[in-house]
Formats: sequence, C-alpha cells, structure tokens
Amino acid sequence: MIKPIYLDYNGTTPHDPEVIEAMRPYLETEFGNPSSSHWYGIKPKQAVETARRQVAAILNCSPTEVFFTSGGTESNNHAILGVARRFREKGNHIITSSFEHPAVFEVCRYLESQGFETTYLPVSEEGLVDPADVAGAVRATTILITIMHANNEVGTVQAIADISRIAKKHGIVMHTDAAQSVGKLPTDVEALGLDLLSLAGHKVYAPKGIGALYVRPPLVPEKFCYGAGQEMGWRAGTENVLEIVGLGKACEIAQRDLTKNMAHMKSLRERLHEGLAGRISGVRLNGHVQHRLPNTLSISFRGQEANRILENIGLEVAASAGAACHSDTVMISHVLEAMGIPLEWAKGTLRFSVGRMTTEAEIDKTIRVVAAAVKPKVA
Ligand SMILES: Cc1ncc(COP(=O)(O)O)c(C=O)c1O
Repeated sequence: MIKPIYLDYNGTTPHDPEVIEAMRPYLETEFGNPSSSHWYGIKPKQAVETARRQVAAILNCSPTEVFFTSGGTESNNHAILGVARRFREKGNHIITSSFEHPAVFEVCRYLESQGFETTYLPVSEEGLVDPADVAGAVRATTILITIMHANNEVGTVQAIADISRIAKKHGIVMHTDAAQSVGKLPTDVEALGLDLLSLAGHKVYAPKGIGALYVRPPLVPEKFCYGAGQEMGWRAGTENVLEIVGLGKACEIAQRDLTKNMAHMKSLRERLHEGLAGRISGVRLNGHVQHRLPNTLSISFRGQEANRILENIGLEVAASAGAACHSDTVMISHVLEAMGIPLEWAKGTLRFSVGRMTTEAEIDKTIRVVAAAVKPKVA
C-alpha cells in the first residue's frame, strides 16, 4: 500500500531513527526505576539526567531548571495553574492572546471559574499580538502573561522578547507555549526573556506523551500533582524513562541540525506555496509572511470547502483543515476567526506543515494533486 504524503508535521512528527536507537535499551533491557538505589536504577537515572542536559541545552538553561511532564498540555497546565495559585494573594489577572492552543485557553477559562480574570488580546490579520496591547492590558493585579511562541495553525511567531520585557518591567511572570517552535526556531530562554516555557516531545520527532517545562529560579509555581519527590519535587510519579530518553535525544538532534533543518523546511514550504499559487486562482496565505515558522503553510482557497478538498486528496496527501463544513453550517477554527479571515476564504483553509523528512518530489506531487482537487486557474 502506498501511504499518503505526510504534510502534517505540526500535528505530530514521526520518530527520528536516532531517537528510536537511543530509546531501544530502555525498552528492551534497562527497565530499572531511576529512584532505586541498587544496580538497576543506575543507568536509568543517568539516562534521565543526560536527557535533562540535552533539553536544557536547546533552551540555553541549567538542567536543574527543567522538569519532565507528559507533554505540552501538562506543561502549560503546570505553568499557568502553578503561577495562578502561587500568586493568588498578589493578584488574579492573566493576559493571553485570543488564538492560543486549547491547552492554554481552556486553563484560563477554568481559572475564570475560580475567580481569576483573563484578558484575551486581539491579533492582527497576520496573527501578531501587538506588544503595545500587552502593555496597555497590564493591571496592578496582573500576575501572568502567557502568549504562545508560534501558532500551530498559521505558524505566526510572536515578538516574545519584546513582550517579556514588558512583563519584566512590571514584575509579571512570563510564560510561552513553545510546543511548535522547539526544533523549528531558536528557543533560547535568555534571549526570549522567559520565566516559563512549555515544550512537547511529539512535535520534535520524539514520542507522544512526553514534554518538559522550563522554570526560571527563584520562581516556584505551586504544584498540582502530589506524591513522591521525583523531578526535584516538581512532578510526582515514577519517571517515563523511555520517553524522557527519546525527548533528550530529539532535542540534541534538533539543536545540532537546527540551521540545516530550518533552511530545508523553508525551501520546501516556499516551493509548495509558489506551486499552488501558480496553478490555482483565488489563493490566500494566512499568517505573517516573515514572522512565521519555516515549515508552515496555511493557505485558503476562496469559495472552497476544506473538508471536500481533504477528502479528494486524502489517498495521496495528508494535511489538515482550518474549517469544518457540516451540511449548512461551517465551523471556522478559533485561530482564523481571531485573525478575522473572511468566511469565503476561511472555510477553504488547509494547513500543510512540512518536516525534516519531506522531499522535493513529495512537494511536487502535492502541488499536482491539490491543484487537480481545487478548481483550476482561469486562463
Ligand atoms: C501550540 C501547542 N500547544 C500545546 C499542544 C499540546 O501538546 P501535547 O499534545 O503534547 O499535549 C500542542 C499540540 O498540538 C500545540 O500545537
């Protein structure tokens, strides 16, 4: 069976072969508990600490500032709930954007039910948060700013360093959800001025169900998972050694090959964009032209239905939709809605996200397949 071309790397990534090799001993033989003081615990404990150093290296922080979680969602929960509960006496106001991943905005919604207040900042048509809006939203009661580094649907990259400076000036904790940017952009917590950063393993060629949170000392978010003292007391529960090893290796590779991978992804993404725009009339790019993940192409086909295109191309290309049409109703993604993309464009939006393994031949075939599924350019 010939599999469809995979162009959904923002959805998840395949395991890197080097990641699989690094994990193999912890699947096959090294089953020990890293907390055990006997022989079986030695290698797993060392492996967890090696992985912590590898994750710290890609973030330019100390290994003692990183703890492992079950993924991007849990990291965001730790960060936002942990800060909200720690600083409850100081204030109850959180600033975020109107097009965060549900792993951020649902946490904010929950906190609102607990008496917190959230400001959801607007984004421009290109998906950018204006740092001036952040400054304007600050109140005496603001305790946290949480704004994603790069958007998963359209790839727009925020001016995090500028926003962090505003947070710092007012003594507000600054968090970013970097699930989409690690491995696609530099993610140096010093350059970005962050107090907290969330990352997710399965977006960086490691397994699903593993992630990490960076926490800048002396910040100590309140913990929400009680139990034994693993992960320096940050996160109770026997460590997921197998996947921690995978995440560490994945970060090492991502850091080592970042420049090469960025150039590869960008050139294929541009090839795809040019190919589609050249063959199909009524094409619109979503997201910022420059401030965008190098691998992400969100593109709208005017008057088309994304679901129908995906159905037509599904045997040959795997991508994702920015809108779902059901009989006479259209559900536009909250991201496109926040950006104010007009309905006639938004409902025909597809997201193609390329990866390290994507080839030029795959892109050229995708152009042909998509062009055939969408109405041809009028001569
Ligand atoms: C921006 C962003 N944040 C958070 C998440 C959630 O990460 P996880 O699936 O590891 O919980 C995702 C995954 O789609 C994401 O794209």
